[in-house]
Amino acid sequence: MYLVEFASVTKRYQLGDVEVVALDGVDFHVQPGDFVAITGPSGSGKTTMLNLIGCLDSPSDGEMRVMGKAVNALSEPALDQLRSRTYGMIFQNFNLIPVLTAEENVALPLHLHALSRQETRQRVAEALRAVGLERFAGFRPDQLSGGQRQRVAVARALVTRPQLILADEPTASLDTANAIALVELMKQLNAEQGVTFVFSTHDDRLLQHVRRIVELRDGKLSVTREPQAAAPRDGLVPQTDRQEVM
Ligand SMILES: Nc1ncnc2c1ncn2[C@@H]1O[C@H](COP(=O)(O)OP(=O)(O)OP(=O)(O)O)[C@@H](O)[C@H]1O
Ligand SMILES: [Mg+2]
Repeated sequence: MYLVEFASVTKRYQLGDVEVVALDGVDFHVQPGDFVAITGPSGSGKTTMLNLIGCLDSPSDGEMRVMGKAVNALSEPALDQLRSRTYGMIFQNFNLIPVLTAEENVALPLHLHALSRQETRQRVAEALRAVGLERFAGFRPDQLSGGQRQRVAVARALVTRPQLILADEPTASLDTANAIALVELMKQLNAEQGVTFVFSTHDDRLLQHVRRIVELRDGKLSVTREPQAAAPRDGLVPQTDRQEVM
């Protein structure tokens, strides 16, 4: 089963008399274990697409399924449940609460999950360990570097053990070294723990670190790169009968 499936999804916004087509007939899917970058110029629809994937907004046309369920058929409470059980979110500006420590920030999404105190503590410690910040549990955001803050945000996204982590330009506030380190951390979580990521980026320097790239142009999607079958070794005939489908 796909985690997320778009069939001819269109999103229009009305700005006074002007209609903006932010997404135009997009077909797309996310499988468990995927690691997908959405790229494209400013205004091409990346944020719109992530908001739709995260059920923060709904399509004007077309069909969208999450975990096999048609999203437009769900009631508001069912949608709330789906959001809090399915997604972890990472934001461009980290969105950490300044007066809370790293571990308190990471614990926040668990409030909706009714876990015992001990379970909460364990989950938070596990998430901070996964991003290499266990020693910084008691630090507030202003006592951390930009790269560390974004790692706290990754831990906060991980702590609910979501099906899918969504991130809108998660590296935009980071310098190059920290941006690449963040993508490497996401890749490591993807490879070792099977965490699925869909994130947007403008930054070409990051894309060489990504397996599957889809590109938006004026709200239309094209696939730039799909995961390849293992490269043929010398002397082996390339497999031509295999086709990766979107
Ligand atoms: N709430 C809204 N109301 C009206 N128009 C909107 C709204 N949100 C987005 N748009 C329009 O939809 C189009 C796509 O915007 P979107 O924010 O998805 O682009 P983006 O690829 O994320 O751009 P950026 O790289 O600058 O973040 C733009 O033309 C934008 O003006
Ligand atoms: Mg955007």
